[in-house]
Amino acid sequence: MISIKDLKKRFGDNEVLKDIDIEIQDGEVVSLIGSSGSGKSTLLRCINLLETPTSGEIYIDGINILDKSVDLNKLRQNVGMVFQQFNLFPNMSVIENIKLAPKKIRKMSDEKATKMAMKLLRDVGLADKADAMPKQLSGGQKQRVAIARALAMEPKIMLFDEPTSALDPEMIGEVLDVISKVAKKGITMIIVTHEMKFARDISDRILFLDKGRIIENGTPEEVMDHPKTERVKRFFEKH
Ligand SMILES: Nc1ncnc2c1ncn2[C@@H]1O[C@H](COP(=O)(O)OP(=O)(O)OP(=O)(O)O)[C@@H](O)[C@H]1O
Ligand SMILES: [Mg+2]
Repeated sequence: MISIKDLKKRFGDNEVLKDIDIEIQDGEVVSLIGSSGSGKSTLLRCINLLETPTSGEIYIDGINILDKSVDLNKLRQNVGMVFQQFNLFPNMSVIENIKLAPKKIRKMSDEKATKMAMKLLRDVGLADKADAMPKQLSGGQKQRVAIARALAMEPKIMLFDEPTSALDPEMIGEVLDVISKVAKKGITMIIVTHEMKFARDISDRILFLDKGRIIENGTPEEVMDHPKTERVKRFFEKH
């Protein structure tokens, strides 16, 4: 589903991603782990072209997304992203937030968009908040709406960048539960997270990024319990 070859990303003299090679199969759930500044967000942002790679190739569903003829809107329909900060539109109700892109980009009728939005809100446990404004929601509720909004495009791939890092501890569980539910639907996912127990439970595979290189790539047991490198061993002793 995702194939990355020799990916490099530089900001000025700072080479943030170095020779990244990754293959992710359809339906796989992959956690991306690494210290602050290792390049995790930059890698996710390259996959939906919020950043332009310096060199390399990224194929999604067989299509080279760095090809100039690729339709960015279409790419972003296929690749949903959820950020640490929820980025809801503050002046729109919860349901309008979810309906916006399906109506505008997928040209869905209002009736159909409403039906779908209500189903998604039920899935994330927020059907009663359809007409609330974002500022009336808790952080955990906002993030669940943000996930529902991303799912409204029926993406093939979901990228999560530290989706619980901005939340109060008591709200983390409800958001992780929703992400686990999404994983069970068979959507291909890449999750950047510091929640190690969650990563272990949900992931088919763990990638460990260190200074812009993937230094470990294996099952949670392989990477977390039997790391090959001193670097990763030390990391998991502390986390
Ligand atoms: N737009 C940008 N311009 C210049 N440098 C950037 C930009 N975005 C990221 N960087 C640099 O790239 C490096 C990697 O940043 P990135 O945000 O990808 O790390 P991260 O692994 O997501 O860290 P964290 O865990 O703190 O979120 C850092 O040195 C950062 O300063
Ligand atoms: Mg980051």
